[in-house]
Amino acid sequence: MKPYVIGIAGGSGSGKSTFASRLKEAFPTQVSLVSCDNYYIPHDDLSLEERAKLNYDAPEALEFDLMVQHLEQLKNGQAALCPVYDFTLHTRSQSVTKIEPRPIILIDGILIFHDEALRECMDLKIYVETDADERILRRAKRDMQERGRDLDGVIDQYLSTVKPMHNTYVEPTKVFADIILNGGKNEQAFALVKTQIEQLLKDL
Ligand SMILES: Nc1ncnc2c1ncn2[C@@H]1O[C@H](COP(=O)(O)OP(=O)(O)O)[C@@H](O)[C@H]1O
Ligand SMILES: [Mg+2]
Repeated sequence: MKPYVIGIAGGSGSGKSTFASRLKEAFPTQVSLVSCDNYYIPHDDLSLEERAKLNYDAPEALEFDLMVQHLEQLKNGQAALCPVYDFTLHTRSQSVTKIEPRPIILIDGILIFHDEALRECMDLKIYVETDADERILRRAKRDMQERGRDLDGVIDQYLSTVKPMHNTYVEPTKVFADIILNGGKNEQAFALVKTQIEQLLKDL
């Protein structure tokens, strides 16, 4: 059987990566994770200050072709060498991670339903819906704790790009979802998706 690809989209801070990591923890040897965050187009021609000001929430910021290529490789049973994005330097790091072809491939990212070719790689599409106030609070906490940002930077980026781009590009892709999941409270949804994966693995 070809790997089953589950796409997890939703706004920034909605809980996509957390949901994907929990599924990975539940099936450590059967699931591979692909994070769209690693596919930002690098701009090494720009200074760090210039890179910090770029719009990271519009489709132009992402290398969709490479994501599609990697998903196709994984679906064909080949490993993919995925770039690793460094959020403190706003660019790709020198290293790559090897993603193994496994029966379940999870891909998460704000704009993964925007690109038609990428959507076509997916067998199941989940959109994580979380209120904007919860998302910005979670994002601020995460960016300050894990990505070396300060509150003023988080606020500027949220108001200038994250919020308008969410409304323009991310939220409209909800129509492509098979399942819309409540990101504020998702134990039941987690259990359902977990059961679905158990069933798929049993049928292998
Ligand atoms: N269901 C949830 N309830 C409460 N907090 C959550 C939940 N899911 C994620 N978080 C927290 O919200 C923050 C952003 O989650 P993350 O998974 O990184 O979001 P995304 O990948 O959608 O941007 C993290 O600090 C995470 O711990
Ligand atoms: Mg994430």
